[in-house]
Amino acid sequence: MDAKSQLELPTPPTFSQMMEDLDIMTSDDKIFKLFQLEQLIDQCEDQSSSSSNRTPVEQTYWLINKFLSRLKTLQDLDTTITTQNDAIIEQTPSEKTMRTVAIIGGGVSGLICIKCCLEAGLVPTCYEMTNDIGGLWNYDANAVDGKASVMKSTVINTSKEFMAFSDYPAPIEYPNYMHNTKLLEYFRMYAKQFQLTNHIRFRTFITRVQPADDYEQTGAWLVYSVNAEEADRRTTENEKCEKYDAVMLATGHHAHPRWVDFPGLENFKGTKLHSWQYKTPHGFEDKVVVIIGIGNSGGDMVVELGRFAKQVYLSTRRGSWVLNRVGPNGWPADLYSTSTVACTVQRYFPWLVNKLLERDMSKRFDHELYKMKPKHRPLQQHPCMNDDLPNRILCGSVIVKPDIKEFTADGHGIVFTDGSKLDHVDCVLMATGFSIAFPYLDEKIISVQENHVRLYEYVWPSHMKHSTLAVMGLVQPWGAINPITELQARWAAKVFKGELKLPSRSKMDEDIDDKATKMRERYVASPRHTVQVDYMEHCDELADHLGCRPNILNFLKTDFKLGWKLLFGPYTPYRYRLEGSRKWAGAREAILTQDERVRYPLCAAQDNKQGIEWTSMFSIIAVVVLLFIVVRCFV
Ligand SMILES: Cc1cc2nc3c(=O)[nH]c(=O)nc-3n(C[C@H](O)[C@H](O)[C@H](O)COP(=O)(O)OP(=O)(O)OC[C@H]3O[C@@H](n4cnc5c(N)ncnc54)[C@H](O)[C@@H]3O)c2cc1C
Ligand SMILES: NC(=O)c1ccc[n+]([C@@H]2O[C@H](COP(=O)([O-])OP(=O)(O)OC[C@H]3O[C@@H](n4cnc5c(N)ncnc54)[C@H](OP(=O)(O)O)[C@@H]3O)[C@@H](O)[C@H]2O)c1
Repeated sequence: MDAKSQLELPTPPTFSQMMEDLDIMTSDDKIFKLFQLEQLIDQCEDQSSSSSNRTPVEQTYWLINKFLSRLKTLQDLDTTITTQNDAIIEQTPSEKTMRTVAIIGGGVSGLICIKCCLEAGLVPTCYEMTNDIGGLWNYDANAVDGKASVMKSTVINTSKEFMAFSDYPAPIEYPNYMHNTKLLEYFRMYAKQFQLTNHIRFRTFITRVQPADDYEQTGAWLVYSVNAEEADRRTTENEKCEKYDAVMLATGHHAHPRWVDFPGLENFKGTKLHSWQYKTPHGFEDKVVVIIGIGNSGGDMVVELGRFAKQVYLSTRRGSWVLNRVGPNGWPADLYSTSTVACTVQRYFPWLVNKLLERDMSKRFDHELYKMKPKHRPLQQHPCMNDDLPNRILCGSVIVKPDIKEFTADGHGIVFTDGSKLDHVDCVLMATGFSIAFPYLDEKIISVQENHVRLYEYVWPSHMKHSTLAVMGLVQPWGAINPITELQARWAAKVFKGELKLPSRSKMDEDIDDKATKMRERYVASPRHTVQVDYMEHCDELADHLGCRPNILNFLKTDFKLGWKLLFGPYTPYRYRLEGSRKWAGAREAILTQDERVRYPLCAAQDNKQGIEWTSMFSIIAVVVLLFIVVRCFV
């Protein structure tokens, strides 16, 4: 037996066969498919290095064959239309069996979408304008137009168990609040594990997404792209157009900085930057800096610059409640404060939660004394998480100021609404939030007014005839975004497949209006409070659409340990993989071991102690309240 048959290598194609296959492709497709070949080779190298003793020639035959069979599959699915000088050349597939989905954006939401589409048997193509995955978590020393960004020191404010992928927990040794580089590593592992990058076309900027000519009948979309490196992205000369059965928009909502105007700002001679542009404290040493806005961007910049600048002033027009990442006993605050019981209490007794939160936060520092006490209650704003802010204020490196009245005519000073004045300011940093935008979409499809968007469950434009366009990750929760995006993407994939249907337009509109009213009633009026959701309640709502909300009563009967954890333990995303389609066999284990993964990076060598939520004061109070209600109602 020769070496080739020993290894069961398929018959290699002839050179002319290979050329025939390549001939029918456009040059862009060749580039893309060669890029896929590169990735395939990497994978094969990984596999072959561990498994075989093929000679280089055998290995090459094997790779070529694999490449060609792969191309064959891709061609069968290909629905490419190419525009060249406005002429449309359609390559209709001979037998189209699967629905194609374009995913715009290769940040974490894009990765999630690819995975959910693959799992649902859809064919995803993800477009990413940069040359890498990760979106805003992929730190760039320069702010990139149209891309959200983090500063070099940004650390997540949702803990690793709380923002984990529901079927892929972060490594046990990873810290609970990860630095952006660590989070990116986690995303890379996820992409590798589920082989997601093969489906991304990097350096491809989407210029337009519009309904296809036959949209009315098919619900199909045209996606126009250009090479992202082209100097002027607005050019339509080299646009490529491809047709898809459905589209997922995953371009984030922190990419378009919102600048705010103040009287006299045009006179200001110092540096003006938005938090989106701020990267490091370098260059701010010994400067007088005014930071406007006390969201999490403002908070992060204030505490960082408070250690480098000559003096930092924090201007806030209405103050804020400030939460800690570090919860009681050093446990991550979000794990401590979320559970099914806590969710129920918050829903029916928000006044009680407000009271408890105010009490805890005021105990840490008197918000009135620190000139930060707002008129509103904690649950009426998006949370500001900052463990170091009171410390900086107490040290005097940060001074809190009210809103800005005007910039002085000499171009150096600022007058505040309380009449106080700064004569010389070097830099003004606006941490005034972001505008939601879909620059590649006609506003008739999704219109944004002052950051208000009309979407059913923040996903579906209800007025469209077909459910083939879905927005991903466009929520701002009291909690983490990724687990919500996952549920949205699982849902959208099933809708695209035709396995689930959306309600009627009138029902969707009713729900949109209802949510908008509730948001208006609850939150302080501000452009930052337009896509606000309660994490636990919203996850459950999406899980209901999908049929994967765990039935806790059943679990209490059949698997008490797990049921108890679901009831009193933190609201980690693994719970949505216990039931329904796309269950994950590891979900139970992930839930029962989440405390270990929290504890491990802190004290790997110590014995495991009892989880903190068993003693969580919040849960105990919640149980007492529930018992009280049960007794009042039924006894
Ligand atoms: C500073 C900061 C810190 C945050 N911290 C947290 C946190 O701790 N926890 C949390 O849950 N959330 C946090 N968020 C919210 C965060 O935005 C989401 O959690 C999530 O990372 C967003 O991912 P995304 O993929 O939806 O968007 P992004 O990460 O913004 O990715 C969008 C991608 O789309 C690409 N893109 C955009 N336009 C185009 C186009 N026309 N063509 C092709 N590609 C395009 C971009 O290049 C980018 O890669 C934070 C946000 C900011 C700004
Ligand atoms: N470390 C982290 O994890 C981290 C870091 C940064 C950001 N983030 C996330 O990124 C998102 C964006 O946060 P962000 O802080 O950039 O924006 P943001 O939450 O929208 O906060 C904007 C701030 O600017 C103020 N502001 C807006 N317009 C103003 C005006 N005209 N005059 C005065 N003040 C004005 C707002 O005050 P009002 O409340 O009065 O409107 C608010 O304090 C959030 O989801 C946040 O959690 C996370």
